[in-house]
Amino acid sequence: MSIENVIEVKNLEKIYRSGTHAVKGINFVVKKGEIFGMLGPNGAGKTTVLQMMGTLLKITKGDINILNHNIHTDQKFIREKIGFALQEAGLDNLVTTSELIRFHATLFGFTGTEVEKKVQESLTLLDLHEYADQMIPELSGGTQRRLDLAASLVHNPDLLILDEPTTGLDPSHRSDLWNLLRTLRKERGITMIMSTHYMEEADVLCDRIAIIDSGEIVAIDTPDNLKKSVGKDKIEFSLSEKINDSQKKSLFSEFLDGDIEYQSNKLLISVDDGETSLLPTLKKIMNIDLKVQGTKVRVPTLDDVYLKYTGKRLEGES
Ligand SMILES: Nc1ncnc2c1ncn2[C@@H]1O[C@H](COP(=O)(O)OP(=O)(O)OP(=O)(O)O)[C@@H](O)[C@H]1O
Ligand SMILES: [Mg+2]
Repeated sequence: MSIENVIEVKNLEKIYRSGTHAVKGINFVVKKGEIFGMLGPNGAGKTTVLQMMGTLLKITKGDINILNHNIHTDQKFIREKIGFALQEAGLDNLVTTSELIRFHATLFGFTGTEVEKKVQESLTLLDLHEYADQMIPELSGGTQRRLDLAASLVHNPDLLILDEPTTGLDPSHRSDLWNLLRTLRKERGITMIMSTHYMEEADVLCDRIAIIDSGEIVAIDTPDNLKKSVGKDKIEFSLSEKINDSQKKSLFSEFLDGDIEYQSNKLLISVDDGETSLLPTLKKIMNIDLKVQGTKVRVPTLDDVYLKYTGKRLEGES
């Protein structure tokens, strides 16, 4: 066990009483300061994993250690160290923004003047002062998400568990929230684990991603490495004339057989890095006298990764 690992998941399983085997023995670690993403289709088991991690759901088999404390024996410690923002923000409709934060502060044992200090701190942190006295149902979806986050941060957790934190938000509120999470990591060193359906979110926000399908982790790595695992970048040339036999011969002497694909007026060359290889490759193609009308660089996306490992396209993309 290492203090560098904030989360250690070992052979974790969940079988619901209905018999559904929702999580089938998964293993992973999350390091201090990481933003770790879980990407997977509906019903893959993401929420189930996060809820077990948050001590909200009983573990069937296996282990979770959080900050070197075992979830079976140290629930109290773990609850004090984590903040949890649920998939469906479970906000109370009958109170105002500041009342909700006050309630959470009290829940976590703050008393007297500490409570008011906490409320003010949270309102500032999430830029919620202007909504302090507004009833929760009057807030926009984006503001409700911020409030949910404020409530989960009241006790300065070391680990934040986020279940689809930006689902339902418009793109501008979504990127606001990403910035906020980055700031929290930078200023407070908070480690985060989150589920998402958004490819861009996983790509730009998460340091590492686990792709989970039918209760199993089918791939786990950095977004860049995952993309590399799908295949090389490809440079696509549109040609104004068909490739003749002597050009074909030159092509095969210039590039590796496996890097060349062509259909009538289209030529694809696989390269390690599309951006830096574009010009040198174009030069070679021109030297063989191929008439190029246009070029395009195709880089594998997380959607390609997702398709490769789950056989499905990502949902939730706009
Ligand atoms: N309380 C429950 N009782 C029985 N089965 C459940 C329960 N909650 C979830 N499941 C089942 O467990 C599996 C995993 O569900 P889970 O909610 O963890 O998936 P998810 O990856 O979070 O999906 P989504 O992307 O839709 O949020 C599904 O087959 C689901 O139907
Ligand atoms: Mg879910």
